[in-house]
Amino acid sequence: METEAPPAMKKVFLETLGCQSNVLESDHVVGMLRRDGFLPTLDESEADVILFNTCSIRSHAEDKVFSRLGRLSDWKRQREGRVIGVLGCMATSYKERILERAPQVDLVVGPDQYPKVPHALREAAGTGVSQVLADFDPAYFPENDPAHLSQPHRAFLEIMKGCDKFCTFCVVPFTRGREVSRPAEDILTEARALAKAGVVEVMLLGQNVNSYGLGLKSRGKTPTFPWLLRELGTVEGIRRIRFMTSHPLDLSDELVEVMAEVPAVCESFHLPVQCGSDAILKRMGRKYDVRHYLERVEKLRSRVRDLFLTTDLIVGFPGETEEDFAGTLRLLEQVRYDAVYSFKYSPRLGTPAARMLGQVLEEVKDERLARLNGLAWRHAAGASEARVGKVEEVLVEGPADRTPDAFFGKTRQNRTVVFGGRNFSAGEFVQVKVESSKVANLYGTALATEKAKTI
Ligand code: SAH
Ligand code: SF4
Ligand code: F3S
Repeated sequence: METEAPPAMKKVFLETLGCQSNVLESDHVVGMLRRDGFLPTLDESEADVILFNTCSIRSHAEDKVFSRLGRLSDWKRQREGRVIGVLGCMATSYKERILERAPQVDLVVGPDQYPKVPHALREAAGTGVSQVLADFDPAYFPENDPAHLSQPHRAFLEIMKGCDKFCTFCVVPFTRGREVSRPAEDILTEARALAKAGVVEVMLLGQNVNSYGLGLKSRGKTPTFPWLLRELGTVEGIRRIRFMTSHPLDLSDELVEVMAEVPAVCESFHLPVQCGSDAILKRMGRKYDVRHYLERVEKLRSRVRDLFLTTDLIVGFPGETEEDFAGTLRLLEQVRYDAVYSFKYSPRLGTPAARMLGQVLEEVKDERLARLNGLAWRHAAGASEARVGKVEEVLVEGPADRTPDAFFGKTRQNRTVVFGGRNFSAGEFVQVKVESSKVANLYGTALATEKAKTI
């Protein structure tokens, strides 16, 4: 039942940090708040509630939140009944300890407890007592509200959550709990509802989508990720399917075949390698070596034409020598990624790597990161340039920010294209002739739409 919010509780400002799971869950929380009578606002000064959806993956992300919280003490004092809430991964990694460091916080809510947010906000405003709700709930999955999609034609869709891999550097198994797959029927029902609402592209989310299905039964059988992709590939209206993230250990031949065979599955793959040294991979607990990784890449590339391959890399893991790092550069040269997301190793409390000997100096990490990025940048620019002269199917997003009269959208590979030709609307598919490129972006001119519709 909808209840009217008390006047002082009306407006909610929500800031999201972290990964796509947080983006999806923030939308989900806003949807629940809206249905409960709250109003989202983009203006902190007029808000009655400020929420941060937080990330614990590296210390930088956490420091940012603690410093934002520190600066909010004055904001809170300015008006009676104002509420500050911390959602997301810091809620599960810090729990009550957030209140010790930031006593102005009223509410700490972990990702599995979001349905309680509207009620807890009202309580906090009324009583002034702080609450911590951070338990895991394997049965709970966030869903999109088809009536309030943040983008009309694209949506994130959570298919699994948590992680059982316990890489030695990573907090996710602690912040998100054990790996749980969402029932296939629920995923397919949500995909159909999204398609009905006009969504043409879904991005399937999970920390390790390749191991989807473990512990589940669907019509008497254990569903697998390739099976799920085939099923989603038959949902009418969904023309593009993407997914992240894949762990190289669980990348099966069957998944490669599905990528090659199911037309809706896009030629785009994010396959984090983390490092190009076997000794470091071992200490990271990644459970594969460079040879296995390269063999998987070769398999993918041999079956999926025009594959857009991206990765995550960590520099300065404890014990990383100059020789280990040279292995990472060598791997980069061998694979030549379309895009690389690189990070300096950040010690995380409670993870085994934080206690390992041989922590690498910050200036060494900086220097290695710069070298790595220089090389990755050259590869990315070269890969974009290779698209010049081709005709790409582009899903229009809207007017381009910096180029007058131009629009932008994404190719199947997920490259951004800026193009002109006429007026376009978001959600439209257009064929674009690529004429030039700059690092990651492509530039071109749209061809006739009639042709696009027949694709
Ligand atoms: N499940 C995904 C990754 C999720 S976290 C996978 O297994 O690949 C996203 C990325 O953050 C990771 O791929 C890793 O490169 C980076 N990361 C995780 N923990 C980190 C840490 N302690 N320091 C620096 N980067 C880290
Ligand atoms: Fe973290 Fe490893 Fe799990 Fe990825 S697979 S979320 S890096 S523990
Ligand atoms: Fe960060 Fe949590 Fe995502 S730690 S990367 S917001 S799963």
